[in-house]
Amino acid sequence: MSKLKYHPVSIFFHWFVFILVVAAFIVIELKGQFPKGSEPRELCKSVHGVIGQLIFLTMAIRLIFRFAYGVPKPTNPKPVFISLAKAMHWLLYALLLISPIFGILYFQYGGKEIHFFGLVWPQLVTPNPEMKKLVEGIHEFLGNSLYFLIALHALAGLWQHYIVKDDTLRRMLNKASA
Ligand code: HEM
Ligand code: HEM
Repeated sequence: MSKLKYHPVSIFFHWFVFILVVAAFIVIELKGQFPKGSEPRELCKSVHGVIGQLIFLTMAIRLIFRFAYGVPKPTNPKPVFISLAKAMHWLLYALLLISPIFGILYFQYGGKEIHFFGLVWPQLVTPNPEMKKLVEGIHEFLGNSLYFLIALHALAGLWQHYIVKDDTLRRMLNKASA
């Protein structure tokens, strides 16, 4: 079904995930300020891990909601922009679901406990320093790709709003006129 507006739940999830992603990036960048092995550095990694798991959960719920309710068609009438917008949205979903898995594997291969609001993950893989290094590289690559893609996505949203002057951003803020 083609819709004109985003469901308020979709809008809430969109901006909630945005806040979580910004928090995850800030905390992991802060980690670099502390010496290796120090308590605040380890704390930054744990907090980043909790936020990352929250991102995964929220994205999974958001995806189910999207399948159940649907989203409006991209606003730009040019087919190439419609395809680009759709590809970007699916890529963001994929990366925000895959990156946390590599983050979890990083802890697991390092033999470190992963906490999530009082719960502790069981050890699912045998700790292995070589695998830890590999998944760390993949996680960092995915995380850094997200920086780039989110910036591009936000710029596209601002471009639609300030240059094309359509309702794209307004409807993601629940302020669309139609
Ligand atoms: C979508 C969610 C996530 C994003 C966007 C993300 C992004 C990032 C980024 C950008 C870095 C820093 C890379 C660098 O220093 O260049 C990083 C590092 C890290 N992430 Fe995540 N992450 C996410 C989820 C998780 C989860 C769920 C965990 C674990 C439960 C985790 C564990 C870690 C750890 C431990 C590091 C530090 C590795 C080191 O020691 O350098 N991340 N993440
Ligand atoms: C973590 C950061 C972000 C992620 C992961 C993200 C992801 C997404 C996704 C997946 C959609 C498709 C609709 C849906 O499934 O909910 C979307 C739509 C949208 N996003 Fe973002 N977004 C982020 C940040 C931003 C920012 C900072 C802006 C501000 C300019 C923005 C503006 C928009 C707009 C205007 C739409 C609607 C596009 C349309 O209707 O065609 N997003 N976003």
